[in-house]
Amino acid sequence: MEVGLWLLALCALLLPALWLLSFLRTDTDLTLLWAAWLGRRPEQVLTGMVVWVTGASSGIGEELAFQLSKLGVSLVLSARRTQELERVKRRCLENGNMKERDILVLPLDLADTSSHDTATKAVLQEFGRIDILVNNSGIAHYSFAVDTNLDVFKLITDVNYLGTVSLTKCVLPHMMERNRGKIVIINSIAGIIPVPLCSAYSGSKHALRGFLNTLHTELYDYPGITVSTICPGPVHSNIYQNCFLGEVTKVLGKQARDIPKMSTSRCVWLILVSMANDLKEVWIADQPVLFAIYLGQYMPFLDWIISKKTWGKIINQYIMDWHNYLENSCHKRPSK
Ligand SMILES: NC(=O)c1ccc[n+]([C@@H]2O[C@H](COP(=O)([O-])OP(=O)(O)OC[C@H]3O[C@@H](n4cnc5c(N)ncnc54)[C@H](OP(=O)(O)O)[C@@H]3O)[C@@H](O)[C@H]2O)c1
Repeated sequence: MEVGLWLLALCALLLPALWLLSFLRTDTDLTLLWAAWLGRRPEQVLTGMVVWVTGASSGIGEELAFQLSKLGVSLVLSARRTQELERVKRRCLENGNMKERDILVLPLDLADTSSHDTATKAVLQEFGRIDILVNNSGIAHYSFAVDTNLDVFKLITDVNYLGTVSLTKCVLPHMMERNRGKIVIINSIAGIIPVPLCSAYSGSKHALRGFLNTLHTELYDYPGITVSTICPGPVHSNIYQNCFLGEVTKVLGKQARDIPKMSTSRCVWLILVSMANDLKEVWIADQPVLFAIYLGQYMPFLDWIISKKTWGKIINQYIMDWHNYLENSCHKRPSK
């Protein structure tokens, strides 16, 4: 009897210890880590659902479409570039789990909010319901706030924040009618902690986090509707080369610095686990970025550790890389 008790106590200690140990090597927050270990598998929950993915023409959205297509869902693919959406559709059909009629290519400009209601009706007409809306479309910039044209702030706010809010508002009444559905927003670590050279982007993502958290409270008597804020760190995609350089007419292009990034497929698999387990907010990033989020969120008084070591490094790299550009086109950073 005593041995049994000792064994039980040992197990009770060992399990959390193993869990914490794997956190030191992991790329997710503790809740998602737990769900990835013991939670529901995406194929158990998502198969058969109607999923609308925005920003499906590239990067995370394209990979989401691809992985979802393997689970056997009905897919709506949206973004501005129809040709790219058709390419993603063909890629999804190649794995053989879906038929042509299971995928709807629906071109959509998030900044054109007047088109969102018609788009929503088109999805409902095609599939009869929307089970999951994945608000994934997003754009970014790479420039000091002081050098960033207000047009960049406006466009990023229109697409990342207002576009997402508008589409969510179009889909919500339908979900409320059924008391069923998932609203997912692909946010960013820049929606939790500040990231230098991304003031407009970070502002839009912070706003999205506030919007979804508040929406969650307003849906308290709709238990069938869940919301998820997904916050990835750096992930392989085209967002870096599409970054605006202070003006909407200038983008970073191929000169984008090759920083360490998580693979798109790993990030997307973790997103699917989060969706399957209805996790309200998740953080997905390799170490030490994940550690920095914990520090920023729970011990903000220690932010000087991040500021001095990380932000200083990023800013200095930026100044080195773009010295000529700053000299020629932008307002110079005032010297101290
Ligand atoms: N990659 C990262 O490191 C990272 C990290 C954290 C969060 N995220 C977030 O992940 C999401 C996906 O980005 P990504 O990294 O996969 O970048 P990406 O490869 O550049 O994809 C961005 C997607 O957004 C679409 N888009 C851009 N403007 C749009 C508009 N006005 N209307 C509709 N769609 C529009 C693009 O399609 P069209 O050009 O065809 O419209 C594209 O499909 C974004 O919300 C981003 O903030 C990315």
